[in-house]
Amino acid sequence: IYVIHIAAEMAPVAKVGGLGDVLTGLSRSLQRKGHLVEAILPKYDCMDYSRIVNLKELDLELHSTFDGQIHKNKVWCGIVEGLPVYFIEPLHPAKFFWRGQFYSEPDDFRRFTYFCRAAMEFILQSGKRPDIIHSHDWQTAVVAPLYWDIYVPLGLDSARLAFTCHNFEYQGAENSGAIAACGLSARDLMRPDRMQDNSFHNKINLLKGGIVFSNVVTTVSPTYAQEVLRPEGGKGLHGTLGVHSKKFFGVLNGIDEEVWDPSTDVLLDYQYSAEDIDGKFINKQKLRERLGLASQGDDEKRPLVGCVTRLVPQKGVHLIRHSIYRTLEKGGQFILLGSSPVPQIQHEFEDIARQFEKHPQIRLVLKYDEALSHSIYAASDIFVIPSIFEPCGLTQMISMRYGTIPVVRRTGGLADSVFDVDDERNPEEKKNGFVFDDPNEGSLNWGLDRALDYYTQRPEWWQDLVKKAMLMDFTWDASADQYVELYKQVLSKTKV
Ligand code: ADP
Ligand code: GLC
Repeated sequence: IYVIHIAAEMAPVAKVGGLGDVLTGLSRSLQRKGHLVEAILPKYDCMDYSRIVNLKELDLELHSTFDGQIHKNKVWCGIVEGLPVYFIEPLHPAKFFWRGQFYSEPDDFRRFTYFCRAAMEFILQSGKRPDIIHSHDWQTAVVAPLYWDIYVPLGLDSARLAFTCHNFEYQGAENSGAIAACGLSARDLMRPDRMQDNSFHNKINLLKGGIVFSNVVTTVSPTYAQEVLRPEGGKGLHGTLGVHSKKFFGVLNGIDEEVWDPSTDVLLDYQYSAEDIDGKFINKQKLRERLGLASQGDDEKRPLVGCVTRLVPQKGVHLIRHSIYRTLEKGGQFILLGSSPVPQIQHEFEDIARQFEKHPQIRLVLKYDEALSHSIYAASDIFVIPSIFEPCGLTQMISMRYGTIPVVRRTGGLADSVFDVDDERNPEEKKNGFVFDDPNEGSLNWGLDRALDYYTQRPEWWQDLVKKAMLMDFTWDASADQYVELYKQVLSKTKV
């Protein structure tokens, strides 16, 4: 099967969160299974160009329409983690992707609808004829209506469209007129069964367009796929998903087993594996020293709790904050690596960081730092993820691969991948962490306290749990097979 992904992120060159990891991990797994996989991304100025191999400009001047005018684009091709990727560089005066950041610009709707139109134009003009065009999240959801309205009439009719929604919170809704810029008709699309926003009736909703007009729609875990069918989870789209439920599936994400492998990870101080976990402790000591946390004498025995996250309400920021203080009360150490696009939250955590600036047991590092994230996964004993909702979540899987035991709230993909050690309903072979139910401090304490106590009181049992977690299969292998099945199903049918 020939698959082209159109997306806003791809690790490690353009990554904000899990979407970037998924794009690369899923694509590489499909590639290993013998499928032809390519990706199209915007050419951001803030990409990590050092991770793109053989980047060169293609001998193709790409013309695309926007705001009723024809604009020129350059197209570049390079290899990212073994995958061919096409980067579109608009020569538009608004400099859409020269902003020094991936998202959070006031004209994000325009930036990404421009990109989608140009990406489709690139497929058409380059003569590529993929079987599947797979788009992701609101940023590239408009690919589906563009395909049927504009590109099928132009002859690009052999593809089928897959759409994965990684998070229903972000939908890309704008005043309806905004859709005209990429060549679509607001009049046609502003209907309740098409792209009219279900709550704000004068708005057009890109995510809804991805759902309505794609042949198959997925989200990133089976539990989240259920949650979004209910009003609390679907953020206004539960009704639309209900109507399209026959083509809607939850497929659990995996993690890339080569990127996240403690036995080969060059970003670690010391590589280790389930057969030789002593090396994990070396990473813990080295990281404590680097960050100025106490590591000698009685301090050596303290459990280290880690958290690597975007600091947004979805992640349960008040519970993250509480877990810092709770860990301190219980005699543990805590390292938080995170940053927030919300200034108020960023400032709040900057205050806490200052409060603990020289503290021997607590450290907050408030930025995005890939290398430090690897050290934290390796060095920590326990990892907290108290999300309010979590479509899938990758950090619990990465933690386990590094022998770090997760404490999570039972929601979305966390519920599908973490199974409480004390819950008799879980089969023994699945038990791998600590799960609590309610998004409040008492419930979190129940999960975190048990983890901290067991670490201290049952060292041998803990070692066995660490080994077991490291050997669990969170690879893409099985999930990529599910995507292949879905691709095959839609290729055998003819219409949406
Ligand atoms: P989300 O996509 O909602 O942020 P996921 O758990 O799916 O959550 O994925 C988060 C990814 O981003 C993980 O690979 C995690 O290690 C990474 N990440 C999050 N915050 C940071 C940070 N401050 N520095 C480095 N990596 C981070
Ligand atoms: C989103 C979700 C996260 C998921 C990721 C990758 O960012 O918030 O839960 O793991 O996408 O699918």
